[in-house]
Amino acid sequence: MKKIGVLTAGGDAPGMNAAIRAVVRTSIYYGLKVVGIERGYEGLINNEVRPMDLSSVSGIINKGGTILKTVRCEELKTTRGQKKAVKVLKRNNIDGLIAIGGDGSLQGALALHEISGIPVVGIPASIDNDVTGTEMTIGFDTAVNTALEAIDKIRDTATSHERTFIIEVMGRERGFIALEVGLAAGAEIILIPEIKYSLDKICQKLKEGRDRGKSSSIIVMAEGAGNSFAIGEQIEEYVGTEVRVSILGYVQRGGSPTSFSRVLACKFGAAAVDLLRKGEKSKIVALKKGKMTSVSLKAACMKKKEINMDLYKLDAILSI
Ligand code: ADP
Ligand code: F6P
Repeated sequence: MKKIGVLTAGGDAPGMNAAIRAVVRTSIYYGLKVVGIERGYEGLINNEVRPMDLSSVSGIINKGGTILKTVRCEELKTTRGQKKAVKVLKRNNIDGLIAIGGDGSLQGALALHEISGIPVVGIPASIDNDVTGTEMTIGFDTAVNTALEAIDKIRDTATSHERTFIIEVMGRERGFIALEVGLAAGAEIILIPEIKYSLDKICQKLKEGRDRGKSSSIIVMAEGAGNSFAIGEQIEEYVGTEVRVSILGYVQRGGSPTSFSRVLACKFGAAAVDLLRKGEKSKIVALKKGKMTSVSLKAACMKKKEINMDLYKLDAILSI
């Protein structure tokens, strides 16, 4: 292993920069050359490759987003696109690729490895925390804390005006953020795409709460769990409380990473370089029971990550 390429792909996540820094600095520490590939897989296909030195990653550990930029690239899903990308890797003498991103980005890395045999290591980074094989992705903790701060503020208005609030958090397909932040915020109800819910039962629970003297409620819902405005209208009609909807949106993707996201990024970045140095061909770095480990890239890509039902049940108990 002489030269490593690093890219970020998919949705940006706070801590990606800290991971890039860790990859670059660890590579240089061990005498390896390292290049950055700009704009994800699209930049790879278009040969947007630049050398990275120690100072190229100075002052970024605390910055959200990604200095390498990111693009969603449909072309990489085709064999033609993958062949183009492999050509660029070979032309630049890149003999190990580190892909930083979510489940889609890791699928892309696997496709490149399978078509070329070039060693690849994935670093799970996504606010969605939807990568199988790791308890945590870079950025998830930051996004949850950003959403929590916002929900705590919204609760002040909910209490003062005696309203029910539906707060929509990110997660078009997965409910990890909603589940975590819902529990932390003491939400009365959590709605996620993975679990079917009955609007009648939700209204009944809110009504019972109101009859017991509860004057305000918080519903945390993942964006992929339904239409928040339609749900709000039905609750207003059946429960009789005033309902407001608040969509938190992209604030959850940005901002300075928390210490947890940064430390995870430092560990993941260094471990990814170590795996390539040891001759591993196709892995992701991962956190299991709080400890650093690695998992086969294929295994990580094959299975959908399961929701932690214990958290869901715990919220139901604590919010009676
Ligand atoms: P994330 O990595 O945040 O989950 P995406 O799902 O958008 O984001 O994936 C990022 C990029 O990874 C896509 O734009 C595409 O270039 C690549 N990718 C995703 N899925 C595949 C796949 N099945 N095969 C090849 N490349 C893929
Ligand atoms: O990857 C995180 C995520 O924010 C998802 O929760 C959401 O569905 C998606 O990205 C939206 O991303 P974009 O608008 O960039 O396609």
